[in-house]
Amino acid sequence: MKIKSLLVGLAALALVGTAAANEPIVIKFSHVVAEDTPKGKGALKFKELAEKYTEGKVKVEVYPNSTLYKDKEELEALQLGAVHMLAPSLSKFGPLGVREFEVFDLPYIFDNYEDLHKVTYGPVGQQLMAKLEPKGIKGLAFWDNGFKSLTANTPIRQPSDLKGKKMRIQSSKVLEEQMRALGAIPQVMAFSEVYQALQTGVVDGTENTLSNIYTQKMHEVQKYLTLTDHGYIGYTVITNKTFWEGLPADIRTQLEQAMKEATEYGNGIAKEENEQALELVKAAGKTEIHVPTAEEKRAFKRALVPVHKKMESRVGADLIQSIYQATGLDPSKL
Ligand code: LMR
Repeated sequence: MKIKSLLVGLAALALVGTAAANEPIVIKFSHVVAEDTPKGKGALKFKELAEKYTEGKVKVEVYPNSTLYKDKEELEALQLGAVHMLAPSLSKFGPLGVREFEVFDLPYIFDNYEDLHKVTYGPVGQQLMAKLEPKGIKGLAFWDNGFKSLTANTPIRQPSDLKGKKMRIQSSKVLEEQMRALGAIPQVMAFSEVYQALQTGVVDGTENTLSNIYTQKMHEVQKYLTLTDHGYIGYTVITNKTFWEGLPADIRTQLEQAMKEATEYGNGIAKEENEQALELVKAAGKTEIHVPTAEEKRAFKRALVPVHKKMESRVGADLIQSIYQATGLDPSKL
């Protein structure tokens, strides 16, 4: 750990040093999804604005599609100072020792983007961000993606259709429990490996947002997709705290402004991006898309809502309650 802190410190010093020599400060922003997604577009918008507002004193290099690091490695790289910005999915903070972020994985905890924003733009979101600081990480913003669908090579009409199926999930205990509640076998896997795992039958199915499904071509290797909207995928943009605090104050202020506007932009297009992706999956004609009936949706809710109670000890009963309060959700009415 001491060596890690030393390396981080040196990385920060090196950056300040290059700034003094009139070289641009380079910010490496690594992520795992395609450029043509809400996160991919948000990262490019941040680059554009950061370079504009700092008048070229900062150069942002965006590495999409796991070209620099995969899920797990990117978090280690951030802590070591080898990369400066990431936007991991909220489901991927558990391995960092911040389990509370998995609260966002609770099935049906958000009905829509408005309810989600009551949390991410409100005090609960701020309290969650603060939990990253003791890990040497600073949270800069919450970025939206969208609501998840389930996919497989056999039809998914009711929870029992997933019984015994191997389903790829992100590295979240809440998602593990969610898949078990459906009778499925959860398989944690890096995002970059999902397409191939579906293609070769290493897993039978998965869950994701439509923008991720389409841009990773998962629909080409999954015959059935059900629009369950059973959970949410979004991100926290994070940076190395030592690096961030070592930046000249005026530059940090300009970057904060760029982040604020990139967040407004990305969160403004997320819903539409996912709607467009649905149309593109439909047009590709390789996947049968099923819209659950009210009765089918009720069956999924009946199977999945008990996960909230089960995961209280993992994510915190108080945190779950504060989300219910913020959104007005009454789980007994789901
Ligand atoms: C996944 O791993 O399924 C996604 O969360 C990837 C992402 O960053 O959207």
